[in-house]
Amino acid sequence: MSKYLADRMSKLGTETAFAVGAEAAELAAKGVKVYPFHLGDLNIPTPKHIREAAFKAIEEGKTGYCPTPGIAPLRDALAEDVGKARNLNLSGANVSVQPGGKPVIGKFIMAFMNPGDEVLYPNPGFPIYESMILFHGGVPRPYGFIEVEDGFALDFEAIERQITPRTKLLIYNNYHNPTSASSDDGEMERLAELCLKHDLLVLSDESYFDILYDGKGKSISSIPGMFERTVILYTFSKKFAMTGWRLGAAIGPKELVNHISRFNVNDESCTSHFVQWAGVAALQGPLDEFYSMMATLKERRDVAVDLLNSMKGVKVCRPNSTFYLFANVTEAMDNLGTKTVEEFRKKVLDETGVSFTTRNHFGSPLPDEKQQYIRLAYSGINVEDIKEGLSKMKELLG
Ligand SMILES: Cc1ncc(COP(=O)(O)O)c(C=O)c1O
Repeated sequence: MSKYLADRMSKLGTETAFAVGAEAAELAAKGVKVYPFHLGDLNIPTPKHIREAAFKAIEEGKTGYCPTPGIAPLRDALAEDVGKARNLNLSGANVSVQPGGKPVIGKFIMAFMNPGDEVLYPNPGFPIYESMILFHGGVPRPYGFIEVEDGFALDFEAIERQITPRTKLLIYNNYHNPTSASSDDGEMERLAELCLKHDLLVLSDESYFDILYDGKGKSISSIPGMFERTVILYTFSKKFAMTGWRLGAAIGPKELVNHISRFNVNDESCTSHFVQWAGVAALQGPLDEFYSMMATLKERRDVAVDLLNSMKGVKVCRPNSTFYLFANVTEAMDNLGTKTVEEFRKKVLDETGVSFTTRNHFGSPLPDEKQQYIRLAYSGINVEDIKEGLSKMKELLG
């Protein structure tokens, strides 16, 4: 009944990585062993004390509506935890609880972007940025990354070249999905300078802030002058292995986050009440299961990086953050006689069962891109299967 469809629906994008998941599931249903490197989900359970807190909250009757911007204990706990980790002086008033991190993207754009406003956003990057900018009538201004010796660096030339008097917002995702790029202090300060100079409002997507193998995380919000113009996207999904619980927050100056909470009233009234109590337990409870998850992820990373680098025509760095590997397969594609990265993906999947996404699942490729990349997530696959799957891929590629 497409005659009923609103015109704006033609501008709504999607997360095409889910389609790869469906394809892999179809193959698995036929009895083929699939090695799932495609989705950024975890095959590690939510820590026990968090699960127990949710049961307890249900038993205690925390099952009704609750305040629109979140329950006070969770807003206060987030203010304390996020403030401490990022060197910010926060109170509960700086926090708007959300059903996941993802809703912060659309709500931020709706609250602060007028049709025709230009928005800088990472590409390759989380595909929902581009989808939401286009859907709400903004002008997408993608910026990419440059492959350097030990990872990826922001392409400042692309950022600066695209700033015009109509540029209003910048989306920054550190640590970055899909490249795993992590800004050093110099890069982050240079970006902050640009935001201050051009009066840009920032959405700082910090979904992977805690998925850091060495060192201490840093937020752009903590650079002098930046807190006032930054909304942090916070999520429980990755740090606490809570992807399906749907719990996150927008955190920043209260004049900004209050506007984001206005969408809560219109959309979902409140985030699931008992899930918020589980969030309090997550922030205030022990971190042993988090540390053990990080050790597991690190082992998986190392096994996968070594195997990938042993394949002919494949090159990947050993990232210090996230659970993604963004491998350069330009030469491997040539060796295999595949013309497009999608053809490469299909061939590897069909012949080995190794399932991954490609650069093309993370925004429309930019015209000057010459190198080809695939993204492997090691969050949802154990070490034995990483070894088995990537050994099969090595047999195929040489
Ligand atoms: C960069 C980035 N931002 C936001 C999200 C949204 O996560 P969630 O809605 O589960 O908090 C994800 C999830 O994979 C992500 O990779």
